[in-house]
Amino acid sequence: MEVSYLLAAAAWLASPLALADMNVALLDNKPAFIADVMRQMTLDEKIGQLRLISIGSDMPQPQLLKEIAAGRIGGTFNTVTRADNRPLQDAAVKRSRLKIPLFFAYDVVHGHRTIFPISLAQASSWDMDAVSLSARTSAMEASADGIDMTFAPMVDISRDPRWGRTSEGFGEDPYLVSEIARTAVHAYQGKSLAAADSVMASVKHFALYGAVEGGRDYNTVDMSPMRMYQDYLPPYRAAVDAGAGGVMVALNSINGVPATSNTWLMQDLLRKDWGFRGVTISDHGAIAELIRHGVAKDGREAARLAIRAGIDMSMHDSLYLQELPGLVKSGEVKEPEIDNAVREILGAKYDMGLFHDPYRRIGAAAGDPPDVNAESRLHRAAARDVARRSMVLLENSKQILPLKKAGVIALVGPLADAPIDIMGSWSAAGVARQSVTLYQGMRTALGDKARLVYARGANVTDNQHIVDYLNYLNWDKPEITQDKRSPEAMIAEAVKAAGQADVIVAAVGEARGMSHESSSRTSLDIPASQHALLAALKATGKPLVLVLMNGRPLALNWERENADAILETWFSGTEGGNAIADVLFGDYNPSGKLPISFPRSVGQIPIYYNHLRIGRPFIEGKPGNYTSQYFEEANGPLYPFGYGLSYTDFSLSDVKLSTRTLDRDGKLDASVTLRNTGRRDGATVVQLYVQDVSASVVRPVKELKDFRKIMLKAGEEKVVHFTVDAEKLKFFNAGLQYVAEPGEFNLQIGLDSRTVRQQSFELR
Ligand code: NOJ
Repeated sequence: MEVSYLLAAAAWLASPLALADMNVALLDNKPAFIADVMRQMTLDEKIGQLRLISIGSDMPQPQLLKEIAAGRIGGTFNTVTRADNRPLQDAAVKRSRLKIPLFFAYDVVHGHRTIFPISLAQASSWDMDAVSLSARTSAMEASADGIDMTFAPMVDISRDPRWGRTSEGFGEDPYLVSEIARTAVHAYQGKSLAAADSVMASVKHFALYGAVEGGRDYNTVDMSPMRMYQDYLPPYRAAVDAGAGGVMVALNSINGVPATSNTWLMQDLLRKDWGFRGVTISDHGAIAELIRHGVAKDGREAARLAIRAGIDMSMHDSLYLQELPGLVKSGEVKEPEIDNAVREILGAKYDMGLFHDPYRRIGAAAGDPPDVNAESRLHRAAARDVARRSMVLLENSKQILPLKKAGVIALVGPLADAPIDIMGSWSAAGVARQSVTLYQGMRTALGDKARLVYARGANVTDNQHIVDYLNYLNWDKPEITQDKRSPEAMIAEAVKAAGQADVIVAAVGEARGMSHESSSRTSLDIPASQHALLAALKATGKPLVLVLMNGRPLALNWERENADAILETWFSGTEGGNAIADVLFGDYNPSGKLPISFPRSVGQIPIYYNHLRIGRPFIEGKPGNYTSQYFEEANGPLYPFGYGLSYTDFSLSDVKLSTRTLDRDGKLDASVTLRNTGRRDGATVVQLYVQDVSASVVRPVKELKDFRKIMLKAGEEKVVHFTVDAEKLKFFNAGLQYVAEPGEFNLQIGLDSRTVRQQSFELR
């Protein structure tokens, strides 16, 4: 414990404002301290702690302050300044009977004031330093605004890009997402959760939210336990093991029982099996939704089910407040059950350092930033760095990229100058006018070396129904601005601009709201208005470079056939425009790899690389009847998991194994020589996959087990080593035991999941 802490705490506790009768000496002993606080609490005060209030939607400010002072609120979310949080904390620690501090939470998902690339983009970096930089910077910025907890990381595995929240997650692979989960939790929480620049990570959405049926948001999930344990649960587990202080519970049901009333999930798995010690939080209104799920007949039953399942805090509903007193009185809920929840909530506050100093992150008014959006508060260099590392070069067959900073470049497309969209959804306290658009980024990069002609060319969509829907989503104000000109006039202007240019750069894809909560799609196509623009640009015969901005895999068949280069930039954040320009002009050599498969069409979904083996597999190049395939189009993904090009080329040698027989307690070294055979320095990701040749249950065709991002100078080579042991070969068998079974394994190393070099070994 830091000395300054104890002094601050002692001063606070010794003041007349301090917790009644609280023993300063206990402050160093968490269980004793919390027991002492709880000893003083009435049942109503305990129930008050279970409430997490959404600022701006739950109640007006005067009522909020009154409720806090009455000890009826445990924490709030959705405020983003110290000045906003201070009066709330004052009400708690100066006016409530027991003076228990509040905590302040917010959805800091990919940046706070500085917006980093969306999570799916960060996963494309396969670079844990980049993930860590984003989360650490976010924690610093959020805590400097008085925030104590973030509702992140979101680690829901998604194999269905129709789901709009695919953008918020880190892709389809349990290993990669688990690595990221661990990294992000450590970075948010810092060395000590109590530090002023740390925020508590509340991992979400527990569990399996990414598997909603049909990719339709909030839909049901029905899944075998083996698949759950093997593929979907590991990232949450990784976050818990990394010490995440909070867990946010999913909105969906799991095999017929909503997560919010799921005792198996919340008690048996999370607390007993995984040993989670921390606070569990329902998602927005989820306790009341138990009625609509049809497992509770009324609010009283909903509250009973949720508290008994182990939901400590209720977000944005008043059912705990209304119903728990009566439920305790009638004996349907026992006070010790309420105590369990209170203990975790007070424990979280203790861990965040709030009992030691409730103003730890809010600070004194004199220290408030005069301008919360001041440039000096942003971390632009970090955001640009992470954004560059997150981009994936999908096509560059004629080496049209990198572009020369010379001649005339036509920049077209509805996303070329779109400061709101480039931030992506869940952009926290990000401010659109601080975003660098692609247009601005290219202008800066070019200076007077080349001429940039710009034309919008199309609206993101001409479908008014979709525009209305996107504007209706939960933004503060409508954010889709339609160009009122006719589609023909806009295309004509773009074609004219293209006519003057040596090369066309077209920024196309989705409005950010299209890849968001409640934004599921039935099509993965680039909207028709933009497709018409691209077709007209193609007809000019000029080289065509596509810069994609989107939050999910898209079906890019036409684009792949017709574009000369395609750069997947996702939604790249505050510094997106500069970062994309860095890549387009070769000031940065792209090194991202897809963290999720790109299908050819919606009909292929679900399509993911680590699917189970089957009895009649389709074999590429050997089409035949009665094998597993779709007969009207090519099979397999358009771009596989792990895929991404560079401006240089790499070669991989055959795989060398240190032994062909691995003992149960032994280790095996697998190595390859990676060589940069091109003319530029560059980085790539060497990926290790394993296939269990024969096991007691059907196993995947391959599974990612390790990876290394390696930077090589032109002409340089390096031997890359991986260690394999029995731990890496374990899986959940039919009895859900985590075991490695003896027998043969194929070990594959590649620069994507499809093209690999293979060797075999035996586990004894
Ligand atoms: C609902 C979302 O599902 C969740 O991800 C988010 O953290 C909460 N709202 C709070 O904003």
